[in-house]
This record gives sequence, C-alpha cells and structure tokens, in this order.
Amino acid sequence: MRSTLIATGSYLPEKILTNADLEKMVDTSDEWIVQRSGIKSRHVAVEGETTSVMAIKAAERALKVSGLSPHDIDLIVVATTTPDQTFPAVASKVQAALGIPVGIAFDVQAVCTGFVYALNVADNFIKAGQARHALVIGADKMTSILDWNDRTTCVLFADGAGAVILKAEEGEAGDVSQPGIHASKLCANGAQGDLLYVDGGPSSNQQTGHIVMHGREVFKYAVSYMAGVVEDVLAASGVSPSEIDWLIPHQQFAYYRSHRQKAGYEHG
Ligand SMILES: CC(C)(COP(=O)(O)OP(=O)(O)OC[C@H]1O[C@@H](n2cnc3c(N)ncnc32)[C@H](O)[C@@H]1OP(=O)(O)O)[C@@H](O)C(=O)NCCC(=O)NCCS
Repeated sequence: MRSTLIATGSYLPEKILTNADLEKMVDTSDEWIVQRSGIKSRHVAVEGETTSVMAIKAAERALKVSGLSPHDIDLIVVATTTPDQTFPAVASKVQAALGIPVGIAFDVQAVCTGFVYALNVADNFIKAGQARHALVIGADKMTSILDWNDRTTCVLFADGAGAVILKAEEGEAGDVSQPGIHASKLCANGAQGDLLYVDGGPSSNQQTGHIVMHGREVFKYAVSYMAGVVEDVLAASGVSPSEIDWLIPHQQFAYYRSHRQKAGYEHG
C-alpha cells in the first residue's frame, strides 16, 4: 500500500500581532524582524482558543474537502508541543469533536519537526495496512510558552493549525510516477538539546515553562541537517534536484538564507 494526500485544511486565529505592536512590548524593530525572518505580522490565539480548538477547525475543513465521513477516519495523529492538557491527547479531542468513531488517536511530540514526524508515522500505518484514512494535524499555540519579555523568541513564534488526510491506495510507495508520499527521512540530535528548549515540564518543575533559544547556533545546525535530509530523500526516491518545483522548509530558513546570501556574508 502507499499513501496519497487527498485533502488539506488549515486554521489561523483572527487576532493579529504586528511588528509595530511588538515594538511597544520589547526593544525591537520592524526592520530587524523583517530582515531576519520576513515576518511582518503573526496570528495569535486568544484565551480559550486552545491547540485543540485550532486543530479541530483545521481538521473539519480537511474532512469537508475530502468528501469523507468521520466514520471513514481510522487513524488520527496530532503533532503538537502545546497540548491543552498534559493528557488526554489533542488527537482524542479532535476525535470526539468530529464524531470519529473509537480508533487509533494519539499525539506526537517532536516540536518543529512534529508535522513531518506525524506524517511519516501515519504513512507507515498505511503501508503496514493498519489504517485506510489517516487524519494528520500539526497544531500549536506557541504563544502559550513564550516569554513576552524575551525579544529573541517572542518575535518569531505564533499560533495555528494545519491538517491533511492520507488515503491508502494500492501500489508501490516509491513509484514517483504516481501521486503520494514517496520517501521520508527523520532525524534528531539529542546532544544539541540545550540550544532550543523549554525551561519547564510536568516531571521536572511542574511548570509549563518558556522557550529558550540560541538562535544563531540553531540556525547553523538546522540548515546543514535540512540540506542533508533533502539530499537523502531525493536519493531514496531517485529524483534529481532539477526536477523539484517546490522546496518548502519549516520556519524562516529559506528567507533568511537567501537574504544573507544576497548580503554576501554567507556561502551556499
Ligand atoms: C534568531 C535569528 C533570526 C537571529 O538572527 P541573527 O542574525 O543570528 O541574530 P544574532 O544572534 O546575530 O543577534 C544579533 C543581535 O540582535 C539582537 N536581537 C535579538 N533579538 C532581537 C530582536 N527581536 N530585535 C532586535 N534585536 C534583537 C541580539 O541580542 C544581538 O545583539 P548583540 O549582538 O548586541 O548581542 C536567527 O539566528 C535564526 O533564524 N535562527 C534560527 C531560529 C529558528 O528557526 N529556530 C527554530 C524554530 S523552529
């Protein structure tokens, strides 16, 4: 079996925080933020607009696009770092809200890489014949773990949700002449955990905590690892770089990198 992506849905909170708003909160400037990230404004969830609220809205939209009934969904995987509660999983809240019958529902915690991990997990369930229609969601209320006095993080993170539906089809997963997920590569380097972390958690200090980031170091590692996994999935699928029309990286790396290259202070 192989997985095809048959529908997408997304949700962004209505409330917008602009760079001008942030200039009034911390010592920053629109110019600094735009130059490094391309971000001019971001969507932020209001009180009560939890991660599951956003995940449910994105999932409802994807389900509608797919034309499927909630009864067709037999796997829900939600990638999130900011669940409403430590448990139950956001996935089980989505299941209840959409009227999806009792089945497999769980969250994946892999932070920025979470959605790719969730997609890969669901793809493997489908390839193993354990699911036929998988709802995969990435949802986070990152503003709930921001220190609004820390200018190095509060200008970069925000809130939202995106959902896709995967369908099991007969065929070879690696057949690039057919639509679907052809190759995946996941990796983590736990040894670099002190470059980007949250200073709280249930089994340490029982606090939600705040994001702490050593941005420049994160950037260096993330860019080189990302280039490596891109090369690996291209090699695994037998596709050459020249055949790729879209490369969609997580976060602002593409913008930042091209900006720095243009400015002449970073090589390719
Ligand atoms: C965070 C990031 C945008 C910072 O850009 P940078 O050019 O590396 O910035 P630097 O670390 O060189 O900091 C430059 C200066 O700006 C300051 N600065 C930091 N945040 C600022 C802000 N919001 N406004 C103004 N100045 C700021 C720093 O304190 C530093 O000042 P100093 O030199 O006096 O110490 C960049 O490193 C990056 O994109 N990192 C990856 C982040 C990421 O994607 N993380 C993963 C999330 S999933």
